[in-house]
Amino acid sequence: MKDTFITKASDWDSPERISMTKKFVDELLMHVSPLSTWKALEIGAGTGLIGLQIEPFVSKVVFEDTSESMLNVLKQKLNDDIKAEILHGEVFEYKKRDIDLIFSSMAFHHITNIEKTLQHLAMITKTGAWVVVGDLETEDGSFHGFEPVPHLGFDTSILSEQFRQNGFDVKSVNIYNTISKGIDSIIMNYEQFILIAQRK
Ligand SMILES: C[S@@+](CC[C@H](N)C(=O)[O-])C[C@H]1O[C@@H](n2cnc3c(N)ncnc32)[C@H](O)[C@@H]1O
Repeated sequence: MKDTFITKASDWDSPERISMTKKFVDELLMHVSPLSTWKALEIGAGTGLIGLQIEPFVSKVVFEDTSESMLNVLKQKLNDDIKAEILHGEVFEYKKRDIDLIFSSMAFHHITNIEKTLQHLAMITKTGAWVVVGDLETEDGSFHGFEPVPHLGFDTSILSEQFRQNGFDVKSVNIYNTISKGIDSIIMNYEQFILIAQRK
């Protein structure tokens, strides 16, 4: 498993990223009210910027990521945190069928096989469980400086249909933030969507 975030991990927690993750969490909490009994799983948890904000609301968070270096930054924040469980690897390695809430921000475009991932999410979630995914709307590749990534954002109507085909009700999809980046002296705007689905 290649760690493509090895050079980014130590500087990941910038004020801009912290603010971006707060917007995602605020939006998530507008749609879903987590219960203290819930077990949650974050896909592409990175340094835990999002999962650590959700953790106070639930009984457990599984922080899953393929990057050991990102998870090492997270581990330094955890101390004796008994509500946190780290899963280093692909989400397919999580096999229990006990999840009430899955969330993921800016990780789906790094996941090669979305169809297989959604099939797996349907398997590990309870009936009525929530899945909340935030990512980029379709972009031209400039977001990652034209480096290859599995998905140049998403067409949310196609992604929504994939959720439906895999046993989820899509409750809402909306744009909740725009990231502006200066690229070759041009300001590029990248819209971020949040998709809220519930397992049937
Ligand atoms: C853009 S970062 C976002 C991190 C975190 N969600 C945040 O908002 O700060 C993408 C994360 O997804 C992880 N990732 C990449 N491919 C993955 C995969 N196939 N499964 C799980 N995580 C993956 C990366 O290692 C990285 O930590």
